[in-house]
Amino acid sequence: MDKSILCIGAGYVGGPTMAVIADKCPDYKVTVVDINKKRIEAWNSDNLPIYEPGLDEVVKRARGRNLFFSTDVAKGIKESGIIFVSVNTPTKTFGAGAGKASDLQYWEKTARDIIEHSQSDKIVIEKSTLPVRAAEAMSRILQSNTKGLNFDVLSNPEFLAEGTAISDLDNPDRILIGAMRTESGQKALKRIVDIYARWVSPEKIKTTNVWSSELSKLVSNAMLAQRISSVNSISAICEKTDADIEEVTGAVGMDSRIGAKFLRASIGFGGSCFKKDILNLVYLCEYYNLPEVAAYWEGVVNINEYQEKRFVKKIIEKMFNTISDKKIAIFGFAFKADTGDTRESPAIYICRWLMEERARLMIHDPKALENAKIDLKDIQGNIEYFEDPYEAVKGAHAIAVLTDWKNFKSYDYEKIYSLMEKPSFIFDGRNILDHKKLYSMGFNVFPLGKPEQTHLSERII
Ligand code: UDX
Ligand code: UDX
Repeated sequence: MDKSILCIGAGYVGGPTMAVIADKCPDYKVTVVDINKKRIEAWNSDNLPIYEPGLDEVVKRARGRNLFFSTDVAKGIKESGIIFVSVNTPTKTFGAGAGKASDLQYWEKTARDIIEHSQSDKIVIEKSTLPVRAAEAMSRILQSNTKGLNFDVLSNPEFLAEGTAISDLDNPDRILIGAMRTESGQKALKRIVDIYARWVSPEKIKTTNVWSSELSKLVSNAMLAQRISSVNSISAICEKTDADIEEVTGAVGMDSRIGAKFLRASIGFGGSCFKKDILNLVYLCEYYNLPEVAAYWEGVVNINEYQEKRFVKKIIEKMFNTISDKKIAIFGFAFKADTGDTRESPAIYICRWLMEERARLMIHDPKALENAKIDLKDIQGNIEYFEDPYEAVKGAHAIAVLTDWKNFKSYDYEKIYSLMEKPSFIFDGRNILDHKKLYSMGFNVFPLGKPEQTHLSERII
């Protein structure tokens, strides 16, 4: 029991995190359960349900030895002393707080499942990102059990980023664990610290009270997103003044107080967490009657949407104010490189707005085409999907780069240019291509937050 770990929720967070814990702690039995049968079947197959560099190897080493995937939630609860909960906590779409607050229905249902099936004391750990004081609600529900059982609720948020999940788990900046200040809470805390201490050095394991831990997760994501919105807002000024966003962020980032990371201008941030967690923070501020603080953080989301819209507006304006019936090749649909995940990808919104202008889209992505098809399935009009970039650009008037996939850099752009309509446009929404080279091939190049390089500027008299 002491060395049996259960994780409820076999998603992007639960799956990789448990695989790494099982790999590092071979004396623990780690079971991951999920109500989604197909997902569990995939975790038990050679074709894992998510793509993460290095994940296959870790799962192969531990699966069947001390790592198990199952749909039997009840058995998992009965047999484990430590339960991580990483079910999804999406933004609420209905009722009070709709559009901002977290929808805690799966979270609460999980608490009730734990009560129903437990026959011994448990440590229950919040892995899912939750509003501050969610552990209190969980604790009250669990303590209402009539079996005389004790439950300690801890917060242990996950900071892994998609695409680098395994290296983030292997070598984290910090492990954060929040526990109640009771004797039992502190004992539980020690048991969880001991698990991570197998491979993480003690100075990187930070212990706090539960509420600080819950809030730190929201604040980490909010501050990361805020950096991107800050840079993206400055990219708009750069385009008006001929300053170059990369020169600006290069200079600004040399200040060690600011730091050089996470300052890449883009069409906007996506992913399952940033927007959801900031809106969650905004809702909490409103709930606690802090309207100025709420407005401050909501601004980060507003700038993100502004940046996505600004990119579409630029495409329309530069292509002679109409894209109706023009073919636009979309390079990248995933919310970032090295993942097939498209949740909250800026590409979803950008493609929808381009379709509203009646463009024809040819979408190319190395990993995300299946998800792209689902995201755009309700849209009427002409959308095609291509594994092969050279097929995607045939007869295209423009290319819009929406994801920072490295392999986009090594495509044969001479060949691509020869396949496209003229004049040919490239809108690099990630600033990853060699703009000078593309310009010299004949492309009209529109980077983000940098001077455009076009052959169209000579005035026709
Ligand atoms: C999710 C949340 O989005 C994030 O806020 C949180 O920090 C961690 O959990 P992720 O792992 O990316 O992140 O979500 P997802 O891939 O959707 O996985 C959640 C899994 O929980 C799904 O596979 C779902 O089937 C499962 N689930 C949900 C249950 O097993 N039981 C439930 O009652 C509800
Ligand atoms: C994020 C956090 O980084 C992670 O700690 C947390 O656990 C979950 O949320 P993730 O969403 O996987 O991780 O990806 P991240 O690398 O943070 O990128 C988020 C978005 O910001 C992507 O759309 C990315 O393209 C964009 N981004 C990132 C930029 O536009 N510019 C940058 O400089 C960095």
